[in-house]
Amino acid sequence: MTYDMIEFTKDDGVAKIRLNRPKALNALCNDMMREVAQALAELEADSSIHCVILTGSDKAFAAGADIKEMQENTYLDIYQDDPFEKYAGSIERFRKPIIAAVSGYALGGGCEIAMMCDFIIAADNAKFGQPEITLAVMPGIGGTQRLTRAVGKSKAMDMCLTGRMMDAEEAERSGLVSRVVPLDELQDTVEKEARKIASMSLPITMMTKETVNAAFETTLQQGIKFERRLFQSMFTTEDQTEGMTAFIEKRKPHFKNK
Ligand code: CAA
Repeated sequence: MTYDMIEFTKDDGVAKIRLNRPKALNALCNDMMREVAQALAELEADSSIHCVILTGSDKAFAAGADIKEMQENTYLDIYQDDPFEKYAGSIERFRKPIIAAVSGYALGGGCEIAMMCDFIIAADNAKFGQPEITLAVMPGIGGTQRLTRAVGKSKAMDMCLTGRMMDAEEAERSGLVSRVVPLDELQDTVEKEARKIASMSLPITMMTKETVNAAFETTLQQGIKFERRLFQSMFTTEDQTEGMTAFIEKRKPHFKNK
């Protein structure tokens, strides 16, 4: 498979998908999102890849769904084809760890796909927003739900109803991003963290991701039970034995991802 609208690289257990439509500030057209979905399907099946980075350019992570593509859509076009579910859903359903490295604009669908990732590391020039209201629509790839869970009702209402942008400092203060770094350190920082995650046992990172995500879907007691069962199941893995043995023997663990 060749890719025209994304750059797709793999190195040392880490894959990077870079959105690459600079003239349109990485607006999420269907063709680009189809490529993202295709790359993620390939990475899900590639056992050598343990962590993925989704990123854009210095100026734009993504400035939203492609307004020029959407402008003429009818209700039936987007209801029957449901491109958001088909393509953006591939990020939501991806089972391995995925980090969003965000610099520049992350607006509308851009903010929404960043929030689908497991965590966001932002450059100090990042700007987040859900400006759909200014186009007389609202977020349509989960923004009203994920932003509200991330930053609370008051700030989510403020963002969705005024369409204003939030800078990186405010995004970190509000819990939308896990940390902010200078723009020229963004890619190195995220690659370093991705390699750290990739050095862990893959099934254990996948189960940890699934369990943290369960916090949004269940009651506290159901979530704790789910966590306990998966924690117990980890004692069936060779990697649990190796991880604890290596600690006691004061050496680095050699995980087999089994
Ligand atoms: N869709 C299509 N094209 C876009 C785009 C988008 N979301 N965002 C930017 N572009 C295009 C512009 O049309 C322009 O193309 P031309 O050179 O052919 O005119 C090019 O990218 C550069 O953009 P600007 O000239 O506007 O750049 P700027 O630096 O002056 O402004 C910006 C940057 C503030 C991000 C501005 O481009 C902007 O407001 N973009 C739209 C943001 C937006 O409304 N996003 C929400 C989209 S709807 C959505 O995402 C729905 C959903 O929930 C799924």
